[in-house]
Amino acid sequence: MNRLTALPAWKALWSHFTRARDWHMRNLFDEDPGRAGDFWLEHAGLHLDYSKNRITTQTLTLLLQLAREAGVPQRIAAMFAGERINTTEQRAAFHVALRNRSAQPMAIDGEDVMPKVQSVLHRMAAFSDKVRNGEWLGYSRQPITDIVNIGIGGSDLGSLMVCQALRAHAHPRLNMHFVSNVDSSQLKETLRRVHAETTLFVIESKTFTTQETLTNAHTAREWFLHRAGDASAVASHFVAVSSNLQAVRDFGIDPRNMFEFWDWVGGRFSLWSAIGLPIMLSIGERNFLDLLAGAHSMDQHFREAPLERNMPVLLGMLGIWYINFFGAGSHVIAPYDQFLHRLPAFIQQLDMESNGKRTTRDGTLVDYETAPIIWGDTGINSQHAFFQLLHQGTHISPIDFIASLDSRSSLPGHHEILMANMFAQAEAFMRGRTLDEARAELLAQGLDAQAVARLAPFKVFDGNRPSNTLLLDRLDPFCLGALVALYEHKIFVQGTVWGINSFDQWGVELGKKLAHGILLEIEGAAPSAERDASTRQLITLYRQHREQPQKDD
Ligand code: F6P
Repeated sequence: MNRLTALPAWKALWSHFTRARDWHMRNLFDEDPGRAGDFWLEHAGLHLDYSKNRITTQTLTLLLQLAREAGVPQRIAAMFAGERINTTEQRAAFHVALRNRSAQPMAIDGEDVMPKVQSVLHRMAAFSDKVRNGEWLGYSRQPITDIVNIGIGGSDLGSLMVCQALRAHAHPRLNMHFVSNVDSSQLKETLRRVHAETTLFVIESKTFTTQETLTNAHTAREWFLHRAGDASAVASHFVAVSSNLQAVRDFGIDPRNMFEFWDWVGGRFSLWSAIGLPIMLSIGERNFLDLLAGAHSMDQHFREAPLERNMPVLLGMLGIWYINFFGAGSHVIAPYDQFLHRLPAFIQQLDMESNGKRTTRDGTLVDYETAPIIWGDTGINSQHAFFQLLHQGTHISPIDFIASLDSRSSLPGHHEILMANMFAQAEAFMRGRTLDEARAELLAQGLDAQAVARLAPFKVFDGNRPSNTLLLDRLDPFCLGALVALYEHKIFVQGTVWGINSFDQWGVELGKKLAHGILLEIEGAAPSAERDASTRQLITLYRQHREQPQKDD
């Protein structure tokens, strides 16, 4: 692996940056009337405007040169060839096979995985159909009305985000619930809203060892047995999604009620697998296949389009430009669509768990920044909350504005206001407002010269804050699939440039291990001699508190 900072394009970009950092996007737009058209790309119902970035065509040429020198084309080919690119775990990262809608085989070590992918899809479809059409009956012979997904991280966020996003396609009888937090409040509140006779629990865990998920699953099963009074009823109310057959069996779920996926599917890339069962239950097989088809279309584009017209590559390299050259430490996801309100949280896991690393694939430490902090919320709400900092604060945080062209609703005026605000924000971030403009506006409002001089500095916006605008034809399964795949691949491109493995997550291990020991101490074991004084003190306070009578909510 070549050292990133020694690559010729890296050096050329630094020299280019010494000029580029002083450009203002206002001037770039004024100087080039073709800019909006040149920096525009469409694929799979997604329209990307990336003209409001601090770039020229020369910047892009150099960034794409860096992508080539860092081996992006070879790594794309390796991923689609099923190579074990997750090197620390010796696994392929083959989520692209899950949404392969072509007739082409996709193989790992010569074994075509498509037959087993198809077979699980068929089982999911057969099961979902039965639940959706009311054929699958609970222990009191009633159809299912509520689905409770129990899982966390990649076994929660993807299905949750998609089910929320595609609510317009949801089955009218099926209420979807997601329990991830081991804080009992979430499970209790959910169980208060459902009835045992008509509830289906989907226990999702790739490893089937995750403490939070298994604790919630055990509690849910106790709650259920208490009501059903018969262990044989579990079979029609609990199904599992996992890659660990033995652990599912040990939990007491019949393997016939298990939907399998494989070690080559990373948790945060798994919504396309059986982990997407809640999605299929909610929106049905046809819509689920459309979701896969949208992702597949983006996969084909990623694999085949030249780097200059390759959406994930462009977004990835624009991110590199800001993170590594401008020093931007964060990136905002701002969907202007209520149904996409969990998208920022989903992309947060996808990006930060994939690229939040400092060791390169060959085991050396990086000497440059890697993944940004991903944050965000629905754009319109954010305008009235944290956009102040983005407009006038001292941080530069590029923003992705995301919205659907189609309004989905017949309520007059709402969508137009939403879109006007989104376009206005992107414009304001780009143009800003100069001191002269601020003065002129205040004078036009009738303020006297003294008041104008006093207030004008507060009304200045530097602008020059970069953003991408992504418009979906409509928020349907196909476009959503393409959107999610776009971000997956963008993240892979960045991980490749930084030389890191985007598919492991060793950083989550240490806390989990310590929590196991601390739980024993909370429950009475002697404190470990290795425990620091602060942690010991916290455990002692908690133990003392626990000994007092507790009030149940
Ligand atoms: O702790 C992090 C993590 O391992 C994620 O990577 C994963 O998505 C999540 O926990 C859930 O893991 P599992 O599906 O094995 O329960």
